[in-house]
Amino acid sequence: VTAATIPTHVPQDLVRDFDIFEFRGDPRLPSTPFEVFDELRDIRTFWSSHHSGYWVLTRAEDIREVFQKPEVFSNHGGSSTILGRTGWPRKLIPEELDPPEHMKYRRPLALPFSPGAVTARGDRVEQVCRDLIESVAATGSCEFLDDFARPFPTTIFTEILGIPTDESPKFLRWNGIIQHSHDPELRARTGAELTQYLIDHIEDRSRNPKDDLTSHLLQSEVDGKPMSKEDALDTCFLMFMAGLDTVTAALGFIFRHLAEHPEDRRRLVADPELVPLAVEELLRAYAFITLTRLVKEDVEVGGVQMKAGDPVVLMTALATRDPLEFPDPATVDIGRAPNHHMAFGAGPHRCVGSHLARRELNVAVREWLRRIPDFEVAPGASLEVHASASMGLESLPLVWEVR
Ligand code: HEM
Repeated sequence: VTAATIPTHVPQDLVRDFDIFEFRGDPRLPSTPFEVFDELRDIRTFWSSHHSGYWVLTRAEDIREVFQKPEVFSNHGGSSTILGRTGWPRKLIPEELDPPEHMKYRRPLALPFSPGAVTARGDRVEQVCRDLIESVAATGSCEFLDDFARPFPTTIFTEILGIPTDESPKFLRWNGIIQHSHDPELRARTGAELTQYLIDHIEDRSRNPKDDLTSHLLQSEVDGKPMSKEDALDTCFLMFMAGLDTVTAALGFIFRHLAEHPEDRRRLVADPELVPLAVEELLRAYAFITLTRLVKEDVEVGGVQMKAGDPVVLMTALATRDPLEFPDPATVDIGRAPNHHMAFGAGPHRCVGSHLARRELNVAVREWLRRIPDFEVAPGASLEVHASASMGLESLPLVWEVR
C-alpha cells in the first residue's frame, strides 16, 4: 500500500484506507463488495489514501450533484490523475468530453441507441440469445460468463458496428485482454490490433457506406462538417469499452442472484411480466460502475471543501444503495417500484446504451428462465468479484438438471 501524501486541505479524520480500483482496505471486498461499500457511509465524504488520493462521496444526493455539474466536475483527467495512466492515447468520445463539446459528439449517438432503434433490433437480440442458450441447455452445466454473458453482447455489438458476426470471437478475445489482462505489454499490443481493425473498418465505410453505426457516425455532422475518421475511431473505441463488459458484468450479477435465490426465480417463471422490474432492481442492488471526475474550481460538495485538481470518485453502488433514497436498500425486492436508481449514471453523460442494455438483460432473463427455469451455482465454486472501474464476477459456473 502506497500512502499518498495527503493534501493539506484534506482533514486527517476524512482519510480512509480504501481503494475501489484495486480493492484495498478490506479483505472482504472480493467476496462481499456491496456489503463493504454499505459500511463506508459512516463518513459522508472521505479521501482515499491510495494511488494519488481521491475523494469518495457516499450519499446519492451528493453523487447526483456532481453528475449534474459538468462545468465544475470535468470528465477529463480524473482517472489518469488517480491511476497515472489512461486506456486510450486520445480522448474517449463522448465520455471524456465536457460541455459544450460533449453534446456535439453525443448527439450522433441518440438515434442509433434510441428506444425505437433498440426495438427494431429486438428480434435479432432474441435470436442470438436463444441460440446461445440452446448451445448449453442440454449439457446441464456451463461457465456462464464464457458461454453466454460474453458472446451475447459482443455479437450484438459487432453487428451494430457493421462487423460480420464471424469476427465476433476476435472481439471477444480483444475485449478479455484489454479489460482484464494484468500484462501491460499484451494489453498495449492488443489495443493496437483492435485500433488497426477499427481504422480499416472506418476507412472501408467512408468509401462504401452501409446501414450501420460506423457509416452513420461518418455521415453525422459536428460543427457543420462530417465527423472526422479520427473522431469516429475515438467513438467506436469508447463503444467497445462501454458496451461489452458492462452487459457481461450485469448478466453475471443478475444470474448469480437468480441461481442463489430460488424464490425469486420461481416468481419470475410464474410471472414473466415481472422481469423488467426484476432487472431494474438487480441493476440497482448490484450497481458495478465507478466514474471519475476532476474538480475544475474550488467547490464545496458533500460537506467538504474540494480544490481545483482534486479527483472525485462516484461509486454508483453507493448511490443506488443509499438508505436516504431507497427503503431497505440492501434487500433485493424484485417487485420494487418506483426504482429511480443511478446505475446508468445521471446528468449529461448518462448511459447512451441504457435502452440496449436493458433490452439485452430482459431478453436474457426471460429466455433463460423459459428454457432453464431451475439452476444453481456449481457446488464448491467460490465466486469472486474483480476490482476495477467496472466490477464483475471472475467466473460463474452454473449447473442444472437436464430433463
Ligand atoms: C448494464 C450495462 C451498462 C451500464 C451499467 C452502463 C453504465 C454507464 C454509466 C454509469 C455511464 C455514465 C458515465 C459517466 O457519467 O461518466 C455510461 C455511459 C455510457 N455508456 Fe453505458 N452502461 C451499460 C451499457 C452500455 C451499452 C450496452 C452501451 C453501448 C453499446 C453503452 C454506452 C455508453 C456510452 C457511449 C456512454 C458515454 C455517454 C456520454 O459520455 O455521454 N453503455 N454507461
